[in-house]
Amino acid sequence: MSADTYRPLVFAHRGGADALPEHTLGAYLRALDEGADGLECDVRLTRDGHLVCVHDGRLDRTSNGHGRVSNKTLAELDALNFGSWHPGYPADEELPDLSRLLTLERLLDALLSSGRRVRLLIETKHPSRYGAEVERRLVRMLRHYGLAEPKPEDPVQVTVMSFAALALRRIRAQAPALPRVYLMEFVPPGVGRGRLPFGAGAAGPGVDLIRARPGLLPAIRAAGHQTYVWTVNQPADLDLVLAHRVDGVITDRPRFVLDRLEEM
Ligand code: G3P
Ligand code: CA
Repeated sequence: MSADTYRPLVFAHRGGADALPEHTLGAYLRALDEGADGLECDVRLTRDGHLVCVHDGRLDRTSNGHGRVSNKTLAELDALNFGSWHPGYPADEELPDLSRLLTLERLLDALLSSGRRVRLLIETKHPSRYGAEVERRLVRMLRHYGLAEPKPEDPVQVTVMSFAALALRRIRAQAPALPRVYLMEFVPPGVGRGRLPFGAGAAGPGVDLIRARPGLLPAIRAAGHQTYVWTVNQPADLDLVLAHRVDGVITDRPRFVLDRLEEM
């Protein structure tokens, strides 16, 4: 990419968690309306095996429920309010589902019926607690929607992300063509020289790691990998990742990032 045309992809982290309740369909759709290229979605399993878009292991922060997501059934979670905890609720009566639990199935249905072209970063949570079940059910669902073997014309382009190399290995085994991002809070052995585990095509370090290890992104890029950095919410952090010419910016504040890119 030349200096003139450089523009990273902008992803709404948890649907753009700053302005609206995270991981609600209303937040996701608002972020896309604002011009985000894609969405970042955490998935975990309910007790009865449904993939739900919830970040925390517990319900307490982002709903009026209590206890572990993995101990609840989908029906139990559907009875909860996932929006009222947030200061931005109800920000806009026209936005659908600002309080309803979002499942991955509901999200894919909404995106596919919207006629939009969307990039979707799906982060699998807790590969150890759930065994191989999260990845197995994820691949099965993506296959059902025809998204497990990505084609350029697919309206929803899925990439799977994880902090766990084990999860990336499972995804590669079941759906080798699905792009994979290796998330990092620290630099594991070998990765500092640009090597990523299990054929991951991209690295996903946190912005604090980029600041602490300025040589990391150049090494990863020199090894031929892409870079997606999270969670870029502050002007200084955005300046840093743009100076590194990252491929993807993952942010709670997509409008802020898009406005800055417009000014460039
Ligand atoms: O995009 C990666 C980032 O979401 C990882 O952190 O805790 O927000 O899932 P977390
Ligand atoms: Ca995440």
